[in-house]
Amino acid sequence: MARIIAGVASSHVPAIGAAIDNKQTEEPYWKRVFSGFEKSKEWMAKTKPDVAIVVYNDHASAFSVEMIPTFALGCAAEFPPADEGWGPRPVPVVKGHPALAAHIAQSVILDEFDLTIVNKMEVDHGLTVPMNLLFGQPKDAWPCPVIPLAVNVVMYPPPTGHRCYMLGKALRRAVESYPEDLKVVIFGTGGLSHQISGPRAGLINSKWDKSFLDNLSKDPKKLTRIPHLEYMREAGAEGIEMVMWLIMRGALDDKVDEVYRFYTVPASNTAVGHIILENARKASGTRKVAGKSKRGSAGKSRQAAARKSIHRIASKGKR
Ligand SMILES: [Fe+2]
Repeated sequence: MARIIAGVASSHVPAIGAAIDNKQTEEPYWKRVFSGFEKSKEWMAKTKPDVAIVVYNDHASAFSVEMIPTFALGCAAEFPPADEGWGPRPVPVVKGHPALAAHIAQSVILDEFDLTIVNKMEVDHGLTVPMNLLFGQPKDAWPCPVIPLAVNVVMYPPPTGHRCYMLGKALRRAVESYPEDLKVVIFGTGGLSHQISGPRAGLINSKWDKSFLDNLSKDPKKLTRIPHLEYMREAGAEGIEMVMWLIMRGALDDKVDEVYRFYTVPASNTAVGHIILENARKASGTRKVAGKSKRGSAGKSRQAAARKSIHRIASKGKR
């Protein structure tokens, strides 16, 4: 079966992408940022995932104020880099995994999370910058297929942290019910504290960020209770992006091994945070059934009931 072996979270500051594209990574200002991802790239090269699910937010590139899905799953065969005003970034086209994405859509929707299915979508820095930080800057192709999951955090109301965390659990159930033996890594992106406009532009709250990282690792349920207003007050208007990290965290075991963490300020006007969490049982290959949550069985029953009902409707149509 497919399994989620680890979660990676990283800021997706657009200026990081510009520094890569303009070959400024060795300049002292940027070297401080990029040096924090050297070990991460080694970890990723060693881990060699078969598929990456990248949770990110679109910055009015694929969507606009005319249409803002709360959770949009990329089911296409490929996702070209978006033109964000300076032409598309010089990164490879992101190849999807339509079969696994379709399976996730079915499983998660029957599990009562109403995803929007997207069969054509360009991806912006929200997705490509974390890819660069973890996979480097490949010339022709990214090393594995990617399933993008775009989350609305740009227009009120974004989903709650709790909803995101529970979506992570539904994603895990979906992945684990896919029959092919695939190693999946899930990304959470965005944050950390930052505010890009208004009187508090430039706000960074390192104390709050570091506490968020501590809890993400050890006590994620505590984070699910943080209201939107607290993100806004403590981490700035754009700090709300951090709810996306809870989708990644929800897809992992309750107890995880924190294998790496990096934090630096600033990059552009944003705090940069990064963490790698591994499922402790990833190497065993024999997951305990007990490791699947009680809600997992409930979710499965609901899915089974929904599938039966679809089957009944289809059979009636044939008569
Ligand atoms: Fe962003």
